[in-house]
Amino acid sequence: MKNIAVIGAGTMGNGIAHTFAQFGYKVQLIDVSQTSLDKGIATITKNLDRMVAKETISEADKKRTLANITAFTSIEEGVKSANLVVEAATENVDLKLKIFRDLDKYCPADTILASNTSSISITQIASVTSRPGIVIGMHFMNPVPIMKLVEIIKGYSTSPETFKIVEELSKKLNKVPVEVNDYPGFVANRILMPMINEAVETIYNGVAGVKEIDTVMMLGMAHPMGPLALADFIGLDVCLSILKVMHEGFKNPKYAPCPLLVNMVMAGKLGAKSGEGFYDYSENRKAEVVSKMFSK
Ligand SMILES: NC(=O)c1ccc[n+]([C@@H]2O[C@H](COP(=O)([O-])OP(=O)(O)OC[C@H]3O[C@@H](n4cnc5c(N)ncnc54)[C@H](O)[C@@H]3O)[C@@H](O)[C@H]2O)c1
Repeated sequence: MKNIAVIGAGTMGNGIAHTFAQFGYKVQLIDVSQTSLDKGIATITKNLDRMVAKETISEADKKRTLANITAFTSIEEGVKSANLVVEAATENVDLKLKIFRDLDKYCPADTILASNTSSISITQIASVTSRPGIVIGMHFMNPVPIMKLVEIIKGYSTSPETFKIVEELSKKLNKVPVEVNDYPGFVANRILMPMINEAVETIYNGVAGVKEIDTVMMLGMAHPMGPLALADFIGLDVCLSILKVMHEGFKNPKYAPCPLLVNMVMAGKLGAKSGEGFYDYSENRKAEVVSKMFSK
């Protein structure tokens, strides 16, 4: 494993690229949007600066990390010599299926194809490729350079060897891999999203306000972040789409998204990334939240 292609330079893609590059891998960061690539590289640089300021890494580490990343707008160009692809594009089934068809076409035959999807079936994604045995879920958490967990999702056809390679690789990134089978929401979101949805229902039913709900969960349950602040940080559109996948996948009304969440997404209130969700995010406040997460 030397060359890692990362598809998507958004919230997760830039964090994944940052992490692999920091641990010495050559990263080809690919996005259809040049603006996203520029923003992604700027975010990586800002986060590395934070790490240097906190003395987690040196200035030389920062330079080495940035030198390991090359940006591409073409999948075909970017994946030519990839040993592993980690796809972190927008959470949309049709888009992901198209990307995996392209990856299957343009990657060498033995390239492992991983998806960072939060909820879409790895088995379905693998089924559009000619190599389902080497397709796997590699679900990093946000912010990737900081969060220790990688959920490794085995699709129906994922081979044990592929699992082992991805598990070992995750350990080399100083992460803790956890083995999970391929069912809607996997483990992390199957447990987290109903809690977030219930927190939204609690506002919707007029039981308590945003700050009150988050305070109960932080001080009462020792959560480092309230569920509503966390939802803002994940993105309310992402939360909604994961709930929809679980609702559809299990045909169980307990996963039905709260109408307030649906309304907020339709109104464009997507959380930190759009400047407003359950909380207001002027640039300073967003920076404050991220900076706290990057402190030692
Ligand atoms: N946000 C989170 O907290 C979080 C956590 C874990 C997993 N995920 C998953 O990670 C993935 C990415 O989520 P995100 O929050 O980073 O999204 P995002 O919207 O921040 O970034 C998505 C990026 O994908 C790019 N893109 C779209 N189509 C593309 C294509 N055809 N080729 C290349 N790039 C393309 C977009 O330009 C954008 O830059 C999703 O599958 C999501 O479910 C998100």
